Amino acid sequence: MIGYADRLEKLPPYIFADLERIQSDLTQKGVDIISLGIGDPDLPTPRVIIESLKNALAEPGSSNYSTSAGEEYFRTSVAEWYRRRFGVTLDPDSEVCALIGSKEGLANVGRVVLNPGDKALLPNPGYPVYAQGSTILSDAIPVVFNLTNESFQPDLGNIPVDGRTKLLFLNYPSNPTGAVAERDGLEEVVDFCAKHNLVLCYDNAYSEISFGSYRSPSVLQIDGAMECAVEFNSCSKMFNMTGYRVGFAVGNSKIITGLKKVKAQIDSGLPRFVQRAAATGLDNYFDFDLSTEHNKNNEILKERLETLVQGLRAIGIEGRTPKATFYLWVNIRADGATFVKELLKLGVVATPGIAFGSNGATYVRFSVTQSTKRIQEAVQRMRKLDLRKANPSLR
Ligand SMILES: Cc1ncc(COP(=O)(O)O)c(C=O)c1O
Repeated sequence: MIGYADRLEKLPPYIFADLERIQSDLTQKGVDIISLGIGDPDLPTPRVIIESLKNALAEPGSSNYSTSAGEEYFRTSVAEWYRRRFGVTLDPDSEVCALIGSKEGLANVGRVVLNPGDKALLPNPGYPVYAQGSTILSDAIPVVFNLTNESFQPDLGNIPVDGRTKLLFLNYPSNPTGAVAERDGLEEVVDFCAKHNLVLCYDNAYSEISFGSYRSPSVLQIDGAMECAVEFNSCSKMFNMTGYRVGFAVGNSKIITGLKKVKAQIDSGLPRFVQRAAATGLDNYFDFDLSTEHNKNNEILKERLETLVQGLRAIGIEGRTPKATFYLWVNIRADGATFVKELLKLGVVATPGIAFGSNGATYVRFSVTQSTKRIQEAVQRMRKLDLRKANPSLR
């Protein structure tokens, strides 16, 4: 009888795949679904990037293999973007690696650092790939730390570290909470990792989705970070190009070299035309047209978040518009999974907070990847919700 490796048996179901299946079943049955579940932007990829992709397809060699580390021009564009955006200087050869989406790099970094039985520290709630794709699939042990205070920041004094602890994952702006990093907090985390010889994997996938005057930092701006940290970022949310699969890892050269070593055994890089298109986006990021479009998109997301906050308030659910990300993380003070099932009956898809760890059990995450009109419609449907089903203690 054919069996799976133990590590595969240890993986919990990937909840987003389940949600996609339920959603497609309902759509096939003719239900008008409003999907506020998966974090996949509905806004268009900027035209300059699409044009660049089309032109790149005609470039000689565009259909040939790239390298797993990424084309030199792409790594140079990433380094230049980091310099202009964060004031961080990177060597494109030794401190930048292209990724097939940042998820790929976050998973593969486990292979770089963790031996079987080693421990990785990860936030609860947090993006599931840290525990599963990265840690469990490296035969290592996920150890969670709580983000339960009002600002969803780690309490370093309560994070258990021993001789087997090798890695710490951190993600701000945060999926799912929408919380943002505090500079003092980042300094403390870098000191903590340096003190305990931990590799800090900082997930900055939402760095460019922020509102008002708030601008997300890079952990590499912190003194000492280059000694212990690697940062993961992506064009997915920045340019609404999730399906292109293009991201990058930057930072500590030893980890970046290790990542390239692992990747060289697994993948042959992302398509050259995709790298060209992404490089065009990064090169034009600060130009008037693209930055205006980008700011407008962020304003649209903010308006949607505010619409949802107001709509939920009207039915007795309190939430706060985050400073960054397109997620609204609300504590419904009841079982989130039951609530989400009730929502599904109304044709509204949201993600139960438990998908991000036990601390999310009473939360629901809404992703504002639908128009304001559709969000208003979702809120209308939610008025029919009987909250007492999810929380019998409500009167
Ligand atoms: C926190 C976080 N990190 C990383 C990713 C991966 O994004 P991508 O692989 O598209 O770059 C996601 C995707 O939703 C995410 O939410």
